[in-house]
Amino acid sequence: MNEQIVILDFGSQYTQVIARRIRECNVYSQILPFDTRAREIAALKPRGIILSGGPSSVYAKNAPLPDKKIFELGAPVLGICYGVQLLAQFLGGKVEKGSKREYGKGTLAVKDATCALFRGLPAELQVWNSHGDKLTKLPRGFKPVAITENSPFAAIENRAQELFGLQFHPEVVHTPRGKEIISNFVHRICGCGKSWTMRKYAGQAVEEIRRQVGREKVILGLSGGVDSCVAAALLHKAIGNQLTCIFVNNGLLRAREAEVVQEVFGKHFRIKLQYEDASKLFLRRLKGVADPERKRKIIGKTFIEVFEKAVESNLRLDSAHSADTTTRRAKFLAQGTLYPDVIESMPIAGNPAAMIKSHHNVGGLPRKMKFQLVEPLKCLFKDEVRQLGLELGLPKEIVLRQPFPGPGLAVRCLGEVTPEKLRVLRRADAIVVEEMKAWGLYYKTWQTFAVLLPVRSVGVQGDERTYDWTLAIRAVESQDGMTADWVKLPYELLEKISLRITNEVRGLNRVVFDLTSKPPGTIEWE
Ligand code: XMP
Repeated sequence: MNEQIVILDFGSQYTQVIARRIRECNVYSQILPFDTRAREIAALKPRGIILSGGPSSVYAKNAPLPDKKIFELGAPVLGICYGVQLLAQFLGGKVEKGSKREYGKGTLAVKDATCALFRGLPAELQVWNSHGDKLTKLPRGFKPVAITENSPFAAIENRAQELFGLQFHPEVVHTPRGKEIISNFVHRICGCGKSWTMRKYAGQAVEEIRRQVGREKVILGLSGGVDSCVAAALLHKAIGNQLTCIFVNNGLLRAREAEVVQEVFGKHFRIKLQYEDASKLFLRRLKGVADPERKRKIIGKTFIEVFEKAVESNLRLDSAHSADTTTRRAKFLAQGTLYPDVIESMPIAGNPAAMIKSHHNVGGLPRKMKFQLVEPLKCLFKDEVRQLGLELGLPKEIVLRQPFPGPGLAVRCLGEVTPEKLRVLRRADAIVVEEMKAWGLYYKTWQTFAVLLPVRSVGVQGDERTYDWTLAIRAVESQDGMTADWVKLPYELLEKISLRITNEVRGLNRVVFDLTSKPPGTIEWE
């Protein structure tokens, strides 16, 4: 079992960020529901426990509370925000409603430099606060180690029992030295080594996949996105030819996307790749359909149909070619599910993380198929998946690629999707990507892409009057796709993109730049 830190989730929007920060310190961490029994936690032998923040008040009637016995497990405990208030209230301190909500940047003055949390840090630190209630009396055995303008108990400790509390959020970027505080907790206080690395994980995952799958066959739907590509490379390393990847070309892919997948997986990795070109079917079904929701539904349904057929034909092929009954049919379906999809979101009122969940459910996979699931990435965060991909030898072009929606270019081609619009959009999108790469900005940006607006306007190209479509450029910065800011791309770059598009792509005579953040806009236009 990996050496680990357990985080109890009281519904903070930052709980996952805490887990990521710990893993960035090369220590495994997992998030458990706030009311997980102490006995279950003990079975994991955690080196430390973190109580997350949360939207509740500790004195509210339905306040989420942990199992009291967690304080008797002998593991150091760190309470953050709501977590420190819980810790204090449980152990005999007092929490009261603050006269005003403390929100935003603050300055922390460290009063006791011998506190292990602040080892190696300056006496003054910028920190991020976000809380209404206030700790007004410390429990016995505790003392304040740092203060802010508004709080004499911004950081507290009970050194003998290894209990610590922070009123501010060390996990967010607005606490610039917060990662060092977290590192001090996991390394100096909990005594964790630096054993969580993607190299080590790859080794463990290979063993685990082999144990789960035995000599059976596995099918994986390869979308070309980072997650399914990394899952494919990992499974291939573990079980070689027992893996078949099915790649569906829905006709809504970007330029060279199908070719890159075939080159990388078919030729380079020599993975068994079943390529299903269903582009005609998708485009036929989308003909005449302009409503965004209907487009999405048609694409989702058609994908399942095509995938199911592809799996059946694969099974038939296998049965025909193999006399060995133990390896005859694929018994497993692999999916690139990630950790954020499997963490139980806390049904705590006011928890934005709980609402975000159902936003986009990936493609919708065939439920009626009788497969067992293999999900080798399900305890990893996206940044870890990317690292793992590099570790497994996947090219940067795949591992660092920007997110791309399941319905593909259909949601970037407003209104009815036609082959002509797709041709124009694909060409223009390739120019946007090429130029972003040339300027060294592509891999630094969450998403940059082109959107075809079927709005005609008058232009003049050469000596001719034109009456052509409009192209919008979208560039956004985001942490998780839930909120986003538009990116202030350099004017010179925008100029170059615009020039190239109007010169090189027939059918477009006007280029505009999207200045909308999310909210109020969404990232995609449909
Ligand atoms: P929106 O447009 O809702 O997108 O702001 C947020 C993020 O999700 C991606 N996206 C999708 N991903 N299937 C997906 O797998 C979809 O149907 C889908 N729609 C949007 C979008 O590219 C952005 O990163």
